[in-house]
Amino acid sequence: MTDGSATILHCAGQVIRAMAANMNHTTVTTAAGRRAIELETRETTCRSDDQIVVAGAGGFIGGSVVKRLRDQGFTRIRAVDRKPVGDWYQRVDGVECVCADLSEKDNAIAAVRNAVEVYNFAADMGGMGFIERFRVECLRSVLINTQLIEAAWRAGVRRYFYSSSACVYNTDLQKDPAVRALKETDAYPAMAERGYGWEKLISEMFCQEYWAERGLETHIARFHNVYGPHGTWFGGREKAPAAICRKVIEAKDTGNGTIEIWGDGTQTRSFCYIDDCVTGIDKITHCDRLIATPINLGSSELVSINELVDIVEDIAGTKLKRTYNPDAPKGVAGRNSDNTFIKQVLGWEPSTPLRDGMRRTYEWIEQQYFDRKAGKKVVEDKW
Ligand SMILES: NC(=O)c1ccc[n+]([C@@H]2O[C@H](COP(=O)([O-])OP(=O)(O)OC[C@H]3O[C@@H](n4cnc5c(N)ncnc54)[C@H](O)[C@@H]3O)[C@@H](O)[C@H]2O)c1
Repeated sequence: MTDGSATILHCAGQVIRAMAANMNHTTVTTAAGRRAIELETRETTCRSDDQIVVAGAGGFIGGSVVKRLRDQGFTRIRAVDRKPVGDWYQRVDGVECVCADLSEKDNAIAAVRNAVEVYNFAADMGGMGFIERFRVECLRSVLINTQLIEAAWRAGVRRYFYSSSACVYNTDLQKDPAVRALKETDAYPAMAERGYGWEKLISEMFCQEYWAERGLETHIARFHNVYGPHGTWFGGREKAPAAICRKVIEAKDTGNGTIEIWGDGTQTRSFCYIDDCVTGIDKITHCDRLIATPINLGSSELVSINELVDIVEDIAGTKLKRTYNPDAPKGVAGRNSDNTFIKQVLGWEPSTPLRDGMRRTYEWIEQQYFDRKAGKKVVEDKW
């Protein structure tokens, strides 16, 4: 992806990459030397006909990135997901769609063939209901990044993006709803979220070491609760914003007038609108200061779950009786994104007001809800 700046071509960079792809990588040169040459000589942006690969493209964020790439005019996009193509959340015309399990070595190698940039969004994940219950599945996502990054390095890929998570942060720092916002250095000393968070942390480390030792340019964003249209909204993997929208729509439709909230509703979070997330991915991937450097990609607008329900009730024009389920998965007590670093490096941060993003999300889920009720095909995670 590009910010639209002019493409700069340097033949030397291509030659070095071709050599690196064909030679025994440990003998090409010292990693530091190769890195310096690469940075000096590589192409700074992508050409519109460069091969771009999006892994996990059948899901929420991957599908939205494919759409943005296409809108930007890229003509060779390979979208890969283990779900059958008919079940992808978004299908974008003019994109090569491949159904493959990327935790398999041969599939990963085939996926990145001729790629200039690779974006990895593939993971077995969901909201708290999923990641607290299925820790083994979450941990096994380490196989995807392990195969994909090795294949990308061997293929001489220019840039590799990895989608990490705020779940890498030390849970000891998140025991109070009046939480201090988390800055990038708070991941260590490590006490990540069990299962999912540890997988993200070790995959981040893979990205950092592939750069340090082998010269593959990697970029890592730590997403904080991304929400918006085209995300999972029912079935068990949905996150709080989508789940609350669905519950409010259901309560209105059935007339039962109540909503169940997981936990006591005082837990706090920030939520990042999908358009901001996609813009941030582009900026982070093309910023030299952010090579192998994890960075928060989230909103700093902190709300409690009770306040989030207030917002959705306002949008829906209803008021519901609230019941609280203290035994349901609720995650850490408080979590917010400290955006000091991203503002300093990029002069930018996610800025869509929560109320605006939630309105667009609510309207999309409402449409999905009634389409489903009418027997039409909707976004559904059966996998
Ligand atoms: N959505 C968020 O709030 C959030 C927050 C933090 C981090 N993330 C990370 O961002 C990435 C994308 O998240 P999302 O919300 O789009 O999730 P998603 O579940 O909608 O998309 C993930 C996709 O990966 C695919 N996948 C899983 N295993 C695969 C495999 N072995 N091979 C190929 N494809 C496979 C799934 O089928 C799915 O379509 C994930 O890595 C996730 O952990 C998301």
